[in-house]
Amino acid sequence: MEIEINLAEPEKRKVSQFEELPFGKIFTPHMFIMKYEENKGWHSPKIQPFSNIELHPAAIVLHYSQTVFEGLKAYYGIDGKIRLFRVWDHIARLNRSAERLCIPQVDPEFVFKAIKTLILIDKDWIPKKKGSALYIRPLIFATQPNLGLKISSEYLFIIILSPVGAYYKEGFNPVKIYVTTEYIRACPGGTGEVKTGGNYAASLKAQELAQKKGYTQVLWLDAKEKKYVEEVGSMNIFFYFDNELATPALTGSILPGITRDSVLKLAPQLGIPTKERRISIDEIIESIENKTLKECFGTGTAAVISPVGEICYKDKSYIINEGKTGELTRKLFEYITGIQYGEKEDPFNWTVIV
Ligand code: COI
Repeated sequence: MEIEINLAEPEKRKVSQFEELPFGKIFTPHMFIMKYEENKGWHSPKIQPFSNIELHPAAIVLHYSQTVFEGLKAYYGIDGKIRLFRVWDHIARLNRSAERLCIPQVDPEFVFKAIKTLILIDKDWIPKKKGSALYIRPLIFATQPNLGLKISSEYLFIIILSPVGAYYKEGFNPVKIYVTTEYIRACPGGTGEVKTGGNYAASLKAQELAQKKGYTQVLWLDAKEKKYVEEVGSMNIFFYFDNELATPALTGSILPGITRDSVLKLAPQLGIPTKERRISIDEIIESIENKTLKECFGTGTAAVISPVGEICYKDKSYIINEGKTGELTRKLFEYITGIQYGEKEDPFNWTVIV
């Protein structure tokens, strides 16, 4: 399929200079948009000036949340090359999420072409400062007007781009997380392992509560026993015990994060064994108290690697590594960002130069 390209006015294409980039509030001048109709399949792909979109008020997505999305980044390397990180894994996950939400599959090669064409048109918007990147947000949603609960026969696939800095206001300083025992994020057989808006909407109430208590994010426990750690609102979670870097095993209700997978593969390269296993909140608290938990951090495309300095459980606060960023956390952060910005060798061929 050929992509029709319609460029924005030159005036609108100018890059503004930003000192500190916020996360997800600034958008580039262009967007990709493609339609799906039952009898036509995916058709009419376009890159056009960034604009609002028109939706029928009865569009299925607005009522029943039939939608999926991805989040990946393009980096401006120290060699001036533009790198996408694990783009094929993100596209594969988009299709897995789509399958769970009964949304038609997209051709991975074509999605890659759409991402590449769009970022090359808006390449001047890729921030050059290390620590910042161009966040790429592909999303697909159901547009058929119908108040009956059914699988939509029409969709829109959109890709928007946003130059971003750190996700948390703390930057690379440790964040504080709050364990909720009141709410759950996802349950076995649910949609916890795919990227769909509903998972995030379901997390907001607990997030509001955590923030009111002075915490950055919520640490979710499993739905059945409220005993095992699952993930944090916008990232997966890792615990560095005496000589093991552990993260909760994927049970079906945890998002299989791509940064999570990258850390599982990079840590052994630094001589640190990793383990995916069940981790109870009691084990965490006990190991903070007896100091066998050395470090804790979260991973995610937006969050990158974010140190965690404090966990609140049952209204008691526990400090990890004196509330400081740990050595392994820093090494992993430098390793992964080194690969992303083309400073370090890429042992798994994760980056794609565009
Ligand atoms: C990402 O890390 O890319 C996400 O989609 C998480 C979102 C809350 C920003």
